[in-house]
Amino acid sequence: MDFEQQKRQKTEEINAFLMKYLPEESGEEHILCEAMNYSVAVGGKRIRPMLLLETYTMFGGQGEAARPFAAALEMIHTYSLVHDDLPAMDNDRYRRGKLTTHAKYGEAVGILAGDGLLNYAFELMSDAVCAQGKNAARAMRILAEKAGVRGMIAGQTVDLEWTGKLLTKELLDYINERKTSALLSGALMAGAALAGAGESELSVLEQVGNYVGLAFQIKDDILDVIGDETKLGKPLHSDEKNEKKTYVTLIGIEKAEETVREYSQRAVELLATLPCHNSFLNELLLSLVTREY
Ligand code: IPE
Ligand code: IPE
Ligand code: MG
Ligand code: MG
Ligand code: MG
Repeated sequence: MDFEQQKRQKTEEINAFLMKYLPEESGEEHILCEAMNYSVAVGGKRIRPMLLLETYTMFGGQGEAARPFAAALEMIHTYSLVHDDLPAMDNDRYRRGKLTTHAKYGEAVGILAGDGLLNYAFELMSDAVCAQGKNAARAMRILAEKAGVRGMIAGQTVDLEWTGKLLTKELLDYINERKTSALLSGALMAGAALAGAGESELSVLEQVGNYVGLAFQIKDDILDVIGDETKLGKPLHSDEKNEKKTYVTLIGIEKAEETVREYSQRAVELLATLPCHNSFLNELLLSLVTREY
């Protein structure tokens, strides 16, 4: 099987178990679960759960113990997108090729569906921690921190604060390392922690995720300008509409592309310093440079 086939198969596997972890659409609150499930089920690349599962197997993990964490992470990521699209934030109407959750269900249900996804992710992970013990607790702690007030939420906050203002490259990296790198580092680290990796290995993976995230966000900002809307599944020029300063506005498309290549290269070089290898993961990280969606 070539890389693309492997990736398709892995994505299908993730989608299959992810759907099983979603809440049943029942009770007087069924609209909440319907909106949560809608936002997850409409699609997405599933990069974060894929990274988590890849470091889990890379460090010798076997079986399905990582699945609840992979599902929880995709729920946390999806909640971040649902809230990111809200009128108070980026105010976007399309995501993953469909209406955003708030555009379909109304703003209040959009907010609550995001809350629901975040909380439900922790219900799933706590159940797994009770069943699996210490390594699972480490993984949950990592994801809580990376998604949290010094991680993704911090990045989103500073991103909003600097909207419309001229910011430096250093500050932009500060934002990107939190709003985007944090969850990607968390994915790589949580999978490895579940398989029993040591702290020094987790720290290498944290740095790998940091570079991957910077490259990933710069590419996202490039695609926001020159991407193909139907492939991306979200509107172009969201950043311009919201007066966001990005690498594209700071250094131009060509240099931004160069930076994406440079950071991705650094990520795979760092990954190669670990004692175990995973050629699929290696290719996956490199493929993020040339991605079109
Ligand atoms: C979008 O993430 C938000 C960013 C961090 C740029 P993805 O590009 O992974 O979105 P999906 O999950 O595939 O929809
Ligand atoms: C958001 O970055 C990253 C998140 C933490 C959700 P963007 O605002 O650029 O993401 P898109 O372009 O809407 O996916
Ligand atoms: Mg945003
Ligand atoms: Mg956005
Ligand atoms: Mg964007």
